[in-house]
Amino acid sequence: MSTRRKFLQASVLGSAAILTDEKVLAGTGKRKNTIDQPVVVSTWDFGKTANIAAWEILNKKGRAVDAVEAGVRVPEADPDNQTIGYGGMPDRDGYVTLDACIMDEFYNCGSVMALQHIVHPISVARLVMEKTPHIVLAGDGALQFALANGFKKENLLTPESEKAWKEWLKEAKYEPEINIENRLYDKDKDPMPGGPDNHDTIGMLAMDAKGNLGGACTTSGMAFKMHGRVGDSPIIGAGLYVDNEIGAATSSGVGEEVIRIVGSHLVVELMRQGYKPEAACKEAVQRIIKRSPEKSKKIQVGFVALNKKGEYGAYALQKGFSYSVRSNAVEKVFRSKSIY
Ligand code: GLY
Repeated sequence: MSTRRKFLQASVLGSAAILTDEKVLAGTGKRKNTIDQPVVVSTWDFGKTANIAAWEILNKKGRAVDAVEAGVRVPEADPDNQTIGYGGMPDRDGYVTLDACIMDEFYNCGSVMALQHIVHPISVARLVMEKTPHIVLAGDGALQFALANGFKKENLLTPESEKAWKEWLKEAKYEPEINIENRLYDKDKDPMPGGPDNHDTIGMLAMDAKGNLGGACTTSGMAFKMHGRVGDSPIIGAGLYVDNEIGAATSSGVGEEVIRIVGSHLVVELMRQGYKPEAACKEAVQRIIKRSPEKSKKIQVGFVALNKKGEYGAYALQKGFSYSVRSNAVEKVFRSKSIY
């Protein structure tokens, strides 16, 4: 396809995304081209609760990076969420290992990988960003750093996640396919999909009252992964990217496929070329399909993006991906469009 045609296609898809926003804004009396800021956008339906914590900060004219850190701490502390933080599913050896990263409006970023025993890896990532000359700390080094900075060592394996792991051990079948929601999802019976199989990483993007962006991403990663496996979530550019000139993006789903295409950075660069958020996310999803058409039918990957105009959008491989938005005009969980 010629560049011009691609661009036109992107513009058409982009207007579809704006129309969605326009519809939501209709009852509020706000004009569709007014930048609705501050705004926070996060992956999945549980992002709605996380957005409340972020909104408290944004609504008081706080910084986007503070808002996203506060927001994702909510599912990190929730033992019922088995894909993030405390209560996350362990790896195949029974260890809960967490990945997280954070990025502000100045390209400052921090990340922790395979961190154990700390409920809030996102706050450790923030300290890596602010207190060290580095960007990534991994494993024991990340734990040492967290403990030296006052974080408490805790057991993150809840009885529910331990039970699920012991059940898995009976067959110990290593099948890294997560969130294959199309086999569970029936749009007539399940108007807004939920349930544990549908949940994965939280990625959160925010624009504050000054128009500055920030993002955070945190996960316990793929359930029963190999010990030491790291997914896309703590990798700057893969699971999260923030460019304060253009926009921000984050991802959820099978991290290996996101890393291969440096997915979140790709989405931001597509927005730089003129793609609207939804169209940029769709193009990134299509890159995954192009690389591996057969595999892409069996896995889930979803991207969410926010641009500097306050426009947001998402796209996923499979049905069932959702994202949550909070602004002055909108408080809503949206179902993402998907390829399959
Ligand atoms: N997206 C989460 C992971 O692959 O670990």
